[in-house]
Amino acid sequence: MSNTVILTQSDGVAVLTLNRPDKLNALNAELLEQLESMLYSVQTDRSIRVVVITGSGPKAFAAGADIAELNAQDAYSGRLFAERGQRVFNLIERLGKPVIAAVNGFALGGGCELAMACHIRFASDNARFGQPEINLGIIPGYGGTQRLPRLVGSAKALELILSGDLVLATDALTMGLVNRVYPAAELLTATMTFATSLATKAPLALTACLEAVQLADDTSMLEGLHGEANLFGRICGTHDFKEGTQAFVEKRQATFTGS
Ligand code: COA
Repeated sequence: MSNTVILTQSDGVAVLTLNRPDKLNALNAELLEQLESMLYSVQTDRSIRVVVITGSGPKAFAAGADIAELNAQDAYSGRLFAERGQRVFNLIERLGKPVIAAVNGFALGGGCELAMACHIRFASDNARFGQPEINLGIIPGYGGTQRLPRLVGSAKALELILSGDLVLATDALTMGLVNRVYPAAELLTATMTFATSLATKAPLALTACLEAVQLADDTSMLEGLHGEANLFGRICGTHDFKEGTQAFVEKRQATFTGS
């Protein structure tokens, strides 16, 4: 088995690097399996508070599902193929820790869908985004038809999904698909600076923020507000909440322990 995903760790931040640069980090079954297993391990590791996902090589974050594997699917296996990718991407979305995509080049098809499953996206100025599945005679299957309209609205999402056109990082920024754009040489450093700063914040409150904002996609306004109040109450019972407010009163830096 090759190392199709590499895990490194520093200052509470785990970096998962997709590692098939000769295939533009296309998401094959082996890569998805390794990614899933590493996600489970960072999820349960209390020393990891934030996760960054990026691609190896100068050209691609991920150029999509592996087209050679895709080509072998039929009506039955195709559904399972889509559900497999969706499971891994849902795990990212529901990881309980902030996941930041550092999009260092092409983010196409499954690569764009992977970036969209992350909570925040930073891109290099040479990144390109798109859902080009239509050009292969198929539709997005790893969540693109659901997450793209939620991020950019259904009109823009349909423009991309129906045309298969790629957009520049600056256009992705304008439409709300990415949070920030950096010169390529600065992307990883800037992402790590942001991630390391998130890693100093109260972990249980970070998790509650993720859960609460997810409710905005999953439920009605009233259910979402109900959920927000429940989460707020839960966090008021934590040691870190007492520490954060006490530190403010005492004019000192808070130290959060995740309890
Ligand atoms: N699946 C499998 N292999 C892929 C791939 C994918 N999604 N995307 C790129 N590759 C492979 C190429 O086959 C090539 O392999 P080879 O050197 O063994 O022939 C290698 O990665 C480099 O790609 P190449 O096409 O030569 O690079 P390029 O710079 O000329 O073009 C792209 C870059 C991204 C425009 C082009 O690779 C592309 O269109 N890829 C497919 C994108 C796509 O449709 N994604 C959705 C899939 S559902």
